[in-house]
Amino acid sequence: MTSDAKILSFQEVSKHNLKTDCWLIISGKVYDVTAFLDDHPGGDDVLILATEKDATEDFEDVGHSQDAKDLMKDYYIGEIDSKSMLQKNKRKMPSNTASAYNQESGSSSSNILTFLLPILILVLAYALYYFAKKDAIISYQ
Ligand code: HEM
Repeated sequence: MTSDAKILSFQEVSKHNLKTDCWLIISGKVYDVTAFLDDHPGGDDVLILATEKDATEDFEDVGHSQDAKDLMKDYYIGEIDSKSMLQKNKRKMPSNTASAYNQESGSSSSNILTFLLPILILVLAYALYYFAKKDAIISYQ
């Protein structure tokens, strides 16, 4: 099956990301599941969401039965060009890392705020209490 299999690039496979044209990459193999969308027991939207990426983990996480795995053969159309997958990951890495870094630094500053805010409120409350008490003592005298 794999000796004369069609080799498809990640870029090409990613174009098929619609309800009317849906290709998946699972365990290095490419499946055209367009005709299966309406019959998929997990629904069509999860399959469309699994396009444009390596869906192996998503597929495995569900714990599909042997019947489901046997069914896959009906939709097999070729093999993914592993080099195109690696290139895609390499290209994505710097921007992902950068955005993860930005998100992290953004959230860490908001973490400091959520830590400092209650302390600030406590200090203010204590100052108010202290001065109110002082005023009360003075007016009593
Ligand atoms: C060619 C690819 C696929 C085939 C042939 C397929 C087939 C099936 C079948 C036959 C079932 C019924 C339960 C079973 O027998 O395991 C099922 C359930 C399900 N599948 Fe898929 N599936 C595919 C890909 C995916 C992918 C990529 C996802 C992504 C998350 C997914 C998510 C689910 C979910 C959420 C269920 C419902 C599980 C449950 O409610 O028990 N499937 N699938």
